[in-house]
Amino acid sequence: MKGIILAGGEGSRLYPLTKAVSKQLLPVYDQPMIYYPLSVLMVAGIKEILIITTPVHKKIFENLLGDGSNIGLNLSYTIQDKPRGLADAFILGEEFIGNDSICLMLGDNLLYGDGLTKILKESINQVEDNENAVVFGYYVNKPEDYGIIQLNQNGEIVSIEEKPSHPTSNYAIIGLYFYPNNVIQLAKKVKPSLRGEIEITSINQAYLNNNKIKANLLGRGFTWMDTGTHESLLEASQLIKSLEKRTGLKIGCLEEIAFNKGLISQKDLKKSLQNIQDSPYKNYILKLVTRNE
Ligand code: TTP
Repeated sequence: MKGIILAGGEGSRLYPLTKAVSKQLLPVYDQPMIYYPLSVLMVAGIKEILIITTPVHKKIFENLLGDGSNIGLNLSYTIQDKPRGLADAFILGEEFIGNDSICLMLGDNLLYGDGLTKILKESINQVEDNENAVVFGYYVNKPEDYGIIQLNQNGEIVSIEEKPSHPTSNYAIIGLYFYPNNVIQLAKKVKPSLRGEIEITSINQAYLNNNKIKANLLGRGFTWMDTGTHESLLEASQLIKSLEKRTGLKIGCLEEIAFNKGLISQKDLKKSLQNIQDSPYKNYILKLVTRNE
């Protein structure tokens, strides 16, 4: 399975922060936002990742993350010239995806929690063994603000609704999706919605019509946030700060995850210090190196 991070878009809700800076490069406490979705893909064991960005920001993402080899990844970049919708990722990414299955994560989504590796690995198996699409449901207070899934008693999806005025459930679909390879052909057939976007909901609905979509629910132990508004961006920063302060452990530290997941050796980790500026971040990685010597 390969991965795509969608890191374009207008970021209009964060204007004027996003007038000159890409939303996905804004800080969530102590790291650029894109580190968090990237770390989720790494935890899922996905190594080949395409980052889709805007013509203006592509170079900056490349400067930040490079080819990913220092963290055991193979990163590539492509441009979306204007925001045509989330499902456009599969059309832009057609060549990159090749014959593989694909995981799409939105560049402004933060997902964190104990047991994430297990649930992601199970999801990949559901896609690769049974050709099912997999989405994740997260219980929210205001379901009318999200895409919602309604489940029956067996945990099967019975309906998908986009920002319903009368929600039938509290389970929001988060910005992390797993699909078999046929998602490319489906995306090409989707007609733009009234707002002119190729909607991911249309893709999910097509899988539902064919009885080929599963939902995995993320319980109370998980934190999921979309960091696309001023309030949620601040809340996400505060949350990360509290967790990091309490434990002394970083969330979404790419070098640490690469080392813990066996993507890079202890020697590679030590070598990566050469390219990190003197900073509290460097001290953190240094501690990690010495702890494992
Ligand atoms: P949104 O948050 O829906 O859109 P946005 O980022 O443009 O922000 P706003 O609504 O405030 O204008 O997008 C979710 C994620 O997907 C975000 O990381 C941006 C990205 N995206 C694209 O890269 N291309 C697109 O065509 C769309 C719609 C979103």
